[in-house]
Amino acid sequence: MTVLDKGAAWKNDRAHVIHPYTDFATFHQEGSQIIERAEGMYVTDTAGNRLLDGIAGLWCVNIGHGRKEMADTIAEQVMNMEYYNPFGHSSNIPAATLAAKLAELAPGDLNHVYYTCGGSTANDAAIRLVHYFFDMKGQHRKKKIISRQNGYHGATYVAASLTGIQGTKYGFDRIGEDFIHHVSEANLFAKPEGWSDADYCDYLLREFEARIQQLGPDNVAAFIAEPIMGAGGVLVAPDGYHKRMWEVCKKYDMLYIADEVVTAFGRLGEWFVSETIYGYQPDIMVCAKGITSGYIPLGATLITSEIYDVIAKPQCEGGVLSMGLTYFGHPVACAAALKNIEIMERENLFANVKAVGPYLQETAQSLLNLPIVGDVRGSHLMMGIDLVADKKMKTPLEMSEKTGSELFRKCIERGVIVRPVGDRLVISPPLIISKDQCDQIIEAISESISEHLAEG
Ligand SMILES: Cc1ncc(COP(=O)(O)O)c(C=O)c1O
Repeated sequence: MTVLDKGAAWKNDRAHVIHPYTDFATFHQEGSQIIERAEGMYVTDTAGNRLLDGIAGLWCVNIGHGRKEMADTIAEQVMNMEYYNPFGHSSNIPAATLAAKLAELAPGDLNHVYYTCGGSTANDAAIRLVHYFFDMKGQHRKKKIISRQNGYHGATYVAASLTGIQGTKYGFDRIGEDFIHHVSEANLFAKPEGWSDADYCDYLLREFEARIQQLGPDNVAAFIAEPIMGAGGVLVAPDGYHKRMWEVCKKYDMLYIADEVVTAFGRLGEWFVSETIYGYQPDIMVCAKGITSGYIPLGATLITSEIYDVIAKPQCEGGVLSMGLTYFGHPVACAAALKNIEIMERENLFANVKAVGPYLQETAQSLLNLPIVGDVRGSHLMMGIDLVADKKMKTPLEMSEKTGSELFRKCIERGVIVRPVGDRLVISPPLIISKDQCDQIIEAISESISEHLAEG
């Protein structure tokens, strides 16, 4: 295939690519902004615009764009051994080495790794492993999963059912509703007037326990949650929430699945945050995105030795764990992940996150002076900015697709990429961001909102 010129790429994209989360009406008129090059904190589109990437691609390019070392590692692995069957007793060096490294970095006895192609497939694998685990233990009724409204867990069928964002469900059949149930998200911005954070946390815990009782503890297998809810609006739970939810899981013999697809690999300055920041030890931990910084797709589902010991002694006929993906433990992806981790360690990138992250959070508070900014929150390099119609009543702005894309475009005109999600703007830059670049992002958002308001 010949290399397409820019005009042809734009036309071919519009004619043939089915874009996720796209309003087809505007897409057919406008087509896509096509990103052609990327380096460090910046990406460049085919029109030659060089833009500060405030969202790390999609919460994933943690080490920054265009690292030659990554390209060299990937090329080397392709030349050495690009792929071979990962099923049965067959493996490869990068997959084995990465599994040992992940076991070393992960908390407690999360010592065993099931590889996938991304976050959705890693969550699907987690649910299959939960079901298999309880079946192997003879607890065949323990199948129900509790997830949270506004949680995001992916786009494959089960991961989409785990997801609690209503906007992702329109027009799609709801399979999974017999075994996947949702409780409230922990949203401090929406907590009832007059409640303390502790009152609100108590309420969420009561709701969770009541739901388990309603479904029947013998039927409920696991709870799944993101440590900080990402796509659902960068929602930070009240103090102690996760640890207490985990304690309830233990009380009812349920497994706790931490979906760390966004939070792992440095976004909050840690490899994984469940234990280091929130003080609980998940039974299953799911990661993707930052594991390779998006240079190549990879997901991983980590399970404890306790779960492994059960599933590794299958009593079923055939005696094998019959779930596997062709690209399980893909050597090129695993080699890229190892290099990515080496770069994070060598350059001490988490120290930058711990210095610049709090600065970003603090600087962004200035946005609260704007009449439509209701809340600015997050942690380190994860930030959500709620846009409201009425600050006092906290009425959501109900940003239309138009308002969201307009603010997106106004930021682009100022050389910055941010992400509109519902009635929020989201920021999640690469871990190499500087304080000056944080200022640039906040300034672009502030000016764009002011201009939008001035235009009425
Ligand atoms: C918390 C979380 N889990 C799972 C996923 C799904 O990952 P993927 O898109 O790689 O399938 C995402 C994607 O944004 C995510 O944010």
